[in-house]
Amino acid sequence: LTPHRLAGRKVLITAGATREDIDPVRFISNRSSGKMGYAIANAAIAEGADVILISGNSNLPPPANAQLISVYSAQDMYEAVMFNIESADIFIAAAAVADYRPAQVAIQKLKKTAQAELHLPLERTTDILGEVAKLEKRPFTVGFAAETQNVANYAWEKLSRKKLNMIAANQVGKNQGFDMDENALLVLWEGGEQDLGYGLKQDLAVDLLDLVIKRFMLTKHT
Ligand code: PMT
Repeated sequence: LTPHRLAGRKVLITAGATREDIDPVRFISNRSSGKMGYAIANAAIAEGADVILISGNSNLPPPANAQLISVYSAQDMYEAVMFNIESADIFIAAAAVADYRPAQVAIQKLKKTAQAELHLPLERTTDILGEVAKLEKRPFTVGFAAETQNVANYAWEKLSRKKLNMIAANQVGKNQGFDMDENALLVLWEGGEQDLGYGLKQDLAVDLLDLVIKRFMLTKHT
């Protein structure tokens, strides 16, 4: 029986992949399925939280008892997060958000030309997690780090540079992390770490949330 440690608490979670339009029929995206973020949403619901799940592209059924906000691009996700962040106790960023988007979205479908190469200028998107971490009255803020190499080093660096309360790091690859039922998470916070090992995303989500709740209770966010 889950003890409902988050009863009356508001938890905001991002999940899934953003899409950045190139033209009316093409976009840049990634392999995120939403499974990790949706599993965290379900774990938070089981703990009695009021959950808002802000989801990019995903084919998963919406978790029962969560408020689902479907978004398309990184900019849409940023706006939805900022609109809902006030009074959130915990923010968990599991979405795979595009870091870059086409600098210009073509109004008409791009035509093939005689040129052998096509160069597509990209511009930075807003770092949603970074903006939440900068808020004066911010929630307990948990980021993810998806890396193909040097996972722990990059994650420690991201934890301190973005001033996060916690980071869940996963090694990703073509058949690892993204769009799989299993994952492996290394969770870091200032002064501590726990390797949650390899397992089903549903089980890892429960273990991750347990760590989040324990750290959340110890901080000023009580
Ligand atoms: O969805 P699944 O198929 O289940 O796959 C799960 C996952 C591999 C996508 C998930 O476990 C994961 O690692 N999510 C984060 C993916 C990612 O984009 O990581 P990153 O290292 O590029 O980004 C770092 C953090 O910043 C993430 O918390 C990300 O949500 C956030 N971010 C990134 C860019 C941006 N513009 N805004 C952000 O908030």
